[in-house]
Amino acid sequence: MTTLKNDRFLRALLREPVDTTPVWMMRQAGRYLPEYRATRAQAGDFLSLCKNTDFACEVTLQPLRRYALDAAILFSDILTIPDALGLGLYFETGEGPKFHKTVRTEQEIAQLPKLNSKVDLSYVMNAVSTIRGALGGEVPLIGFSGSPWTLATYMVEGGSSKEFRFTKQMMYAQPELLHALLDHLAESVIDYLNAQIEAGAQAIQIFDSWGGALAHREYQEFSLQYMQKIIAGLKREHDGRKIPVIIFTKGGGQWLESMVATGADALGLDWTTSLADARQVVQGRVALQGNLDPATLYGSAATIEKAVKTMLDNAYRNGEKTGYVANLGHGITQWADPDHAKVFVDTVHEYSAKYLG
Ligand code: CP3
Repeated sequence: MTTLKNDRFLRALLREPVDTTPVWMMRQAGRYLPEYRATRAQAGDFLSLCKNTDFACEVTLQPLRRYALDAAILFSDILTIPDALGLGLYFETGEGPKFHKTVRTEQEIAQLPKLNSKVDLSYVMNAVSTIRGALGGEVPLIGFSGSPWTLATYMVEGGSSKEFRFTKQMMYAQPELLHALLDHLAESVIDYLNAQIEAGAQAIQIFDSWGGALAHREYQEFSLQYMQKIIAGLKREHDGRKIPVIIFTKGGGQWLESMVATGADALGLDWTTSLADARQVVQGRVALQGNLDPATLYGSAATIEKAVKTMLDNAYRNGEKTGYVANLGHGITQWADPDHAKVFVDTVHEYSAKYLG
């Protein structure tokens, strides 16, 4: 078993005692950091940044040099899977991700190749093992994937979407087609995440960024069911340590009870959910992560400190001593002030001593 100098992130996810609240930020490596923009310029574009092991490792470590973060997250993207399945991912400046091909017909779904992540996504596995080496046991490394539903929206629409016209058309007009696609993606995600775990990922987060666009019943059938299948298929222990799994459905605060039943160790919350209420609902059965509005970082240092304190008061209101990881409620935006991110991280550590010290 590799020893970690700081394992409070893993401990909090497993609801073991911690000395202070662990904290990281979704999208912590990104455009708000000038050093990220410089490395991306060196790489040429975003995908080259992901595919070059040294660059991917460098940008993963950049936020850890600035802030006292308790976890690193692999620098990559959720859309590596559809790319490896042959859709041809590209980014147009200012327009977000796009695919050369879409997947909308029975034939297109049936023709999707079976993913062999160790081969087809070897650049991701190389990044994971290189980053683990570079971290030298300082903090754990998070591996991740998109949820099948979230990946399906990009594959069916051919890129980002607000209305999910074609995906929802498939859902209501030909649900068996969508199920075939989701099933293929769930198998792909299991293979991908297990390969990341073998390469050295010490915790896993599943990003269900668009689960909140689903109706109540459809969320269970088209998103949650497949995340549950993934969790059941994951290696839950590696190198003598448990591998905690976090599921994050943006806009999913009303479904926490059914998320607990998936077997996830922790649930990510966006900022629209009350952390205190969520603690009541889950009753210590899983850990929670989140959920400061990322836009809070646009405010002053004093505003951020106040918001972080309120968040921690809510997290520990009922006398709990663990089972909570501080984070933003979604990714840090490109317009955030890097100094304000420091206020966020430092306030979490300083103020949580009141409850845990
Ligand atoms: O958290 C981290 O620091 C790790 C890196 C990470 C990226 N994408 C890097 C990235 C992670 C975990 C993701 C996940 C991801 N990618 C999600 C799920 C998380 C979420 O935000 O809900 C989604 C939906 C994607 C798909 C994606 N990739 C979009 C929609 C975009 C464009 C968004 C934008 O901000 O322009 C990307 C590109 C992307 N992925 C960037 C980064 C840092 C920006 C690319 C750039 O440098 O221009």
